Amino acid sequence: MFRLSDFNYHDKVIFLRADLNSPVKDGKIISDARFRAVLHTIRYLLEHKAKVVIGTHQSKPYEEDYLTTEQHAEILSSLLGVKVKYVDDIFGKCARDAIKALKASEVLMLENLRFAAEETKQKPLEYCERTHFVRKLSPLIDYVVNDAFAAAHRSQPSLVGFARMRPMISGFLMEKEIKALTRAYESLERPKIYVLGGAKAEDSLNVVENVLRNEKADLILTGGLVGHIFTLAKGFDLGNANISFLGERELIKLVDRAESILNEFYPYIRTPVDFAVEYKGERVEIDLLSDKKWIFDERPILDIGSRTIEKYSEILKEASIIVANGPMGVFEIEEFAKGTIEVFKAIGESKAFSIVGGGHSIASIYQYNIKGISHISTGGGAMLTFFAGQSLPVLQALKISYEKFKNKKELNQ
Ligand code: 3PG
Repeated sequence: MFRLSDFNYHDKVIFLRADLNSPVKDGKIISDARFRAVLHTIRYLLEHKAKVVIGTHQSKPYEEDYLTTEQHAEILSSLLGVKVKYVDDIFGKCARDAIKALKASEVLMLENLRFAAEETKQKPLEYCERTHFVRKLSPLIDYVVNDAFAAAHRSQPSLVGFARMRPMISGFLMEKEIKALTRAYESLERPKIYVLGGAKAEDSLNVVENVLRNEKADLILTGGLVGHIFTLAKGFDLGNANISFLGERELIKLVDRAESILNEFYPYIRTPVDFAVEYKGERVEIDLLSDKKWIFDERPILDIGSRTIEKYSEILKEASIIVANGPMGVFEIEEFAKGTIEVFKAIGESKAFSIVGGGHSIASIYQYNIKGISHISTGGGAMLTFFAGQSLPVLQALKISYEKFKNKKELNQ
């Protein structure tokens, strides 16, 4: 793969694909974690007198947080201390004129890339390079820097489409993420513990299967909807409210698959022993074996309980490697953030080399000032795809670009 130091950027136009897709509340971005993660790369390009064109997606069509990138440009301006111009266009004449007008060390933010229909589909590289987006912009671009690790599992035009048109270089964040994830995955230090929560249950099941089958993990601790699915697969009843919630999200079908994973690996997969629900306006914790379990018929589970937190924290103390993805509960509601925060804290306090990721849930690490985690990954789905042992289209594209352009004479060395 190309590294940033391989090229000269003086007066060159760089398309920087970042992933600044961030959590939003009432129309406002509430975490700048993904912005901070790409500052190193942007500053390097500006110091080397590049003309930087940034592209990102924000959410997807019809979602509430599907916003323009005007706010993204403002946040980046204040973090960089450099004005980031914004153009409400992606590859049309306005965008192209704005790119042509850029001077050395200036930055331009394109509109939300998913406002273009082509960017909402996943297609192989050959299709992506034929899109209007790639065809209109590639004549204006000298190099592409890809720092969108969190979207590395997506094969979309802005992420892979330029690979054979222009040298595509991996940014500092991309390099750092791959290095940390590879270290955790390949390490021979034991015990290796995976903590899987959140709602990306199918991806998490892929991870469980891959890491246990290939002896990359000694124990899996589950929470969030992943925990509900394994709890049901162990034969516990989680009540009507929770079963219909999983049904609505089409996750109930995963219980059978979880059951067959348990048939093979039962002792290595731990599930919560108690859960928290909201009852009469308060957090109430219910033991899985208690006679108050009828509450689960009426109330959705919103977090793991204190006994589970205690058990998981004890186990995490002894770990040498920890990989954690996704929250233990609905961390957006303060009373139900406890499980996520306490488990993340236990990871930070352990002596292990630890990685925590999970898209928007990493915001809680900064919000609650949790220290001691070795690597906070910006990836949610991308991180899960990596640990499921599947290939990431963006990494493939970076390799293809390197093979195609490695003999190019502008290379620095
Ligand atoms: C993420 O937050 O996981 C990435 O930005 C990718 O977003 P997507 O799942 O909408 O493609």
